[in-house]
Amino acid sequence: MTTMTSATLDFPQSTTPELLRDAERSLMYVVTRPEKIMVRGKGSYLWDLDGKRYLDFIQGWAVNCLGHSPRVLTRALQQQAKELVNASPALLNEPMIRLAKLLTDHSCMDKVFFASTGAEANEGAIKLARKYGQRHLGGAYEVVTMWNGFHGRTLTMMSASGKQAWDGLFEPKVPGFTRVPLNDLDAVKQAVTQQTCAIMLEPVQGEAGVFSAEKSFVQGIRELCDERGILLILDEIQTGVGRTGTLFGYEQFGIEPDIMTLGKGVGGGFPLSALLAKDPVCVFEAGDQGGTFCAQPLAMVAGLATVGEVIAKNISRKAHLRGTYLRRKLKVLRKEFGFTDLRGMGLLQAVDLPAPQAVEVANACLNDGLLINAPRPDTLRFMPALTVSNREVDEMLSILTGALRRYL
Ligand SMILES: Cc1ncc(COP(=O)(O)O)c(C=O)c1O
Repeated sequence: MTTMTSATLDFPQSTTPELLRDAERSLMYVVTRPEKIMVRGKGSYLWDLDGKRYLDFIQGWAVNCLGHSPRVLTRALQQQAKELVNASPALLNEPMIRLAKLLTDHSCMDKVFFASTGAEANEGAIKLARKYGQRHLGGAYEVVTMWNGFHGRTLTMMSASGKQAWDGLFEPKVPGFTRVPLNDLDAVKQAVTQQTCAIMLEPVQGEAGVFSAEKSFVQGIRELCDERGILLILDEIQTGVGRTGTLFGYEQFGIEPDIMTLGKGVGGGFPLSALLAKDPVCVFEAGDQGGTFCAQPLAMVAGLATVGEVIAKNISRKAHLRGTYLRRKLKVLRKEFGFTDLRGMGLLQAVDLPAPQAVEVANACLNDGLLINAPRPDTLRFMPALTVSNREVDEMLSILTGALRRYL
């Protein structure tokens, strides 16, 4: 153990072997990270410790919807930090009331519970649905979810998710989830039993590789839920707050969910998530749900600044237009590289390569100053800031083209 002095807080001016060794020694291994240390971000760009600039089409996994460190967010955080960092989740604070009102005024939902991560909001959604099942559905507790769905990494959310690679991991999983293929309404109908309290899905499966639910599928699920008196939960952690071209993804399916979860973009980069529900579904009693950092003021002002800006500047519409531009340009590249599929909504898009070279291409892009994600061996995903410009889209495509030429 090192004694903490001000000197130990000084950070070298460039990436050194010692720093990388310290990282390997003291950070618990959960993922292999590139040997680059990020120190600064602005808009669509990130800089590492060695001063290298990266065009960021990952944006913290579709989190920084206004780009890196937007003024509206940093100013709100600075001002709030001077006033009150944390009171208590058991006390009201002003931004908490304002953010809950903003979200309910602009969605079909009536009430909000705030948390910090997407997985937490989703856990809350399952708890709420199970409580509703106890109260109104004779104790029904099962939730039908989708194969390849992704709902987070707590044990319950790993159980709810449909990621086959997780089967066998951390067993026994939490019981009560039945998985069915996305867009197979008959399979959903067969999976619903007397024990079912809810059906849960993402409007677009982002982590799986950007697979959209079909409109008729979501509408069919809505009808089924109404017929059976069960709940529809939409996980909008990745699709919410403008990403798909509307403020919330559900708006594009012509339905309203009973429960919706938000995360990622809702805090513009600050840890914030939300569980929203319609009034009749809000059945929690005192003590059923909570958490030390729930609705803490810094997160609340981050949400207010971000969602307020997205609404005030109609950034959802801009995401739609920019997404259309990106799609048009990708269609041109398709001719040269033979992409086998192009899909997505707004600024959540993907292409399938004709060969399983996506990871190699993403690594080559990183070296060339572009951050891009490969969610599957043959898939590249695009999730830039919603404020990305056409010029930045062109710059991304130019770097990507160079990398693709080396591999395809
Ligand atoms: C649709 C969806 N739900 C839930 C999560 C989990 O969110 P978090 O990592 O904040 O717990 C993610 C994260 O990628 C997601 O995409």
